Amino acid sequence: MNYNNILTAFSQGITTITVNRPSKLNALNKATIKELHAAFKHADTDKNTKVIIVTGSGEKAFVAGADISEFAHFDSKKGKKLAQKGQELLFDFIENLSTPTIAAINGFALGGGLELAMACHFRVASNNAKMGLPEVSLGVIPGYGGTQRLPQLIGKGRALELIMTAGMIDTNQALSYGLVNHVTAPEDLLPLCEKIAGKIARNSPVAIGAAIKAVNANYKDGTNGFEVEIFEFGNCFDTQDFTEGTTAFLEKRRADFIGK
Ligand code: COA
Repeated sequence: MNYNNILTAFSQGITTITVNRPSKLNALNKATIKELHAAFKHADTDKNTKVIIVTGSGEKAFVAGADISEFAHFDSKKGKKLAQKGQELLFDFIENLSTPTIAAINGFALGGGLELAMACHFRVASNNAKMGLPEVSLGVIPGYGGTQRLPQLIGKGRALELIMTAGMIDTNQALSYGLVNHVTAPEDLLPLCEKIAGKIARNSPVAIGAAIKAVNANYKDGTNGFEVEIFEFGNCFDTQDFTEGTTAFLEKRRADFIGK
């Protein structure tokens, strides 16, 4: 597929998607969001892709937010549509993918950039990264799920402080908050993500997809996560991956999962 605002690469079971607008610090305009949707969808349906990594182009930014120049003149109707479409096409979409998705945060992850990273299943950062939700400094609030996912990840008080001050935290703080799982030197960022992806790729893609659904259920209003867990757990027993995983264990060999 041809993209203008992103790059995609595939190697050893990993699809890497790079937001590629470095002159705008990889800000998410409408076209980029559409392309990201297409690339994530393509990777999720690709049988060979076991893990997706998303990162930003250049040394300075993961993504410095939604593209401010695109919405500066919007009214409330357009603003609501912007948030709704964005959440549907990208942020909720990623969170609910059955393919594990890692955000490799290589610099500024601000506003929509941090929201993109938070929609991923987990985050790894280079030690030059800076994270924040500065929207209130623009007279608006986070609209791509930031008011929901940040408190889920770091707690209500910390999230509100970060949102209300429009501040940025460094990776030490992000690590201590649990916002990122690991911090590395910039040159080690993708290799570390690939190493973790390699460990994930050895396991059953079907079971991993079910685990994502069950974990996500904890954060869905009106959904009982324990019931979702029982349902997904039971379903695993009818899959070829379960037969292969348990047989391989009993035969003392490594499982060769069929996958998606
Ligand atoms: N939307 C649109 N353009 C953006 C952008 C965004 N969110 N973030 C950066 N850019 C653009 C700048 O306008 C500039 O473009 P120009 O060279 O055509 O003028 C270019 O990217 C480089 O950014 P610049 O501000 O010059 O870099 P800096 O190193 O001085 O500052 C930041 C870096 C991240 C602190 C600063 O760019 C910033 O505050 N960006 C906006 C962050 C934000 O509020 N995000 C939430 C949006 S909802």
